Amino acid sequence: MKILILGINGFIGNSLAGRILGETDWDVYGMDIRDDKLEKCRGNERFHFVEGDICINREWIEYHVKKCDVVVPLVAIATPMTYVREPLRVFELDFEANLKIVRDCVRYGKRLVFPSTSEVYGMSPDKEFDEDESPLVVGPIQKQRWIYSASKQLLDRVIWAYGFQEALQFTLFRPFNWIGPKLDDLTVLPEKEGSSRVVTQFISSLIHGLPIQLVDGGTQRRCFTSIDDGIDCLIKILKNEENRCDGQIFNIGNPKNELTIKELAHRLRGIFLKHSSHDPSSQVSDIVETSSGTFYGNGYQDIDRRVPSIRKAREILGWEPRIDVDTALRLTVEYYLDTKAKID
Ligand code: UGA
Repeated sequence: MKILILGINGFIGNSLAGRILGETDWDVYGMDIRDDKLEKCRGNERFHFVEGDICINREWIEYHVKKCDVVVPLVAIATPMTYVREPLRVFELDFEANLKIVRDCVRYGKRLVFPSTSEVYGMSPDKEFDEDESPLVVGPIQKQRWIYSASKQLLDRVIWAYGFQEALQFTLFRPFNWIGPKLDDLTVLPEKEGSSRVVTQFISSLIHGLPIQLVDGGTQRRCFTSIDDGIDCLIKILKNEENRCDGQIFNIGNPKNELTIKELAHRLRGIFLKHSSHDPSSQVSDIVETSSGTFYGNGYQDIDRRVPSIRKAREILGWEPRIDVDTALRLTVEYYLDTKAKID
């Protein structure tokens, strides 16, 4: 099988490519604007990489969609601060640029495995979000945080409609707060505060000895999922035994790994302080509270609880997440501290 991964240097892309090359005999073709996270892939004769931008290198993409069997377009902006500050960039990249790739798959009859998001459920009242039943609930237009959720939801609907009307072979997957090594680049505080997701934001604050900021008290909850569990599930989706994943949507998350953001802050600080590289004489980050208006601006609105139902992934794929939240957090912190030690 030949797999085209766009955004292959990203958090999901580099990990997926490494696992495919290590565990299967598939060929991987990848494009990204950077290649600094691809050290595990380099040198493998089944790995083919080109540096490029999905908005510019259209001919390369079209040629490779034609050449490959499965297309996995992973390029997207996925940080809430950007949804609030630059909503148009989110729409242009996450929706417009990806729509072209979806249409290439329709045109050349290729299988599409596309990342939807846990954010499409928005403020859904369901206790567990179900792929085929839960309502998708977003806030008012002036709360531009929802541009990401709305862009992704519309693309989910377009992909589904291409399946319905034009027999596009597709699977949508919805990651729920995946974490692990190489999640985001650590932010250089304070200028880029909020430009990564919460786990990397907090680790960055810990490394710099700056306060960890709990937005609106940190009572909101997330289910943190290890990237390794997520990739296990993606590999099963790519294998697509008996075409069981065709036309399906899968939540990929760990409902047992639920924490409030306040609990997350305390656990990360605990892991950080226990790490061998921690200097006891250095400044330890305080955990402080801030408002969402101050941290993100008026265009922000939050999701209090986000728990996936993983019944479908269990039943159709036989997948079960295995890694508990403390292990997933520890592996993430260790990666950043070990990388920092190398830079120092
Ligand atoms: C994320 C992003 O939208 C995407 O990465 C992705 O599609 C999706 O969720 C996912 O991974 O499932 P969210 O979980 O809201 O959305 O984003 P984070 O930046 O990780 O924030 C989580 C929570 O921590 C939010 O309630 C936020 O207000 C809070 N937070 C964030 C803080 O309290 N302090 C901070 O410094 C940063």
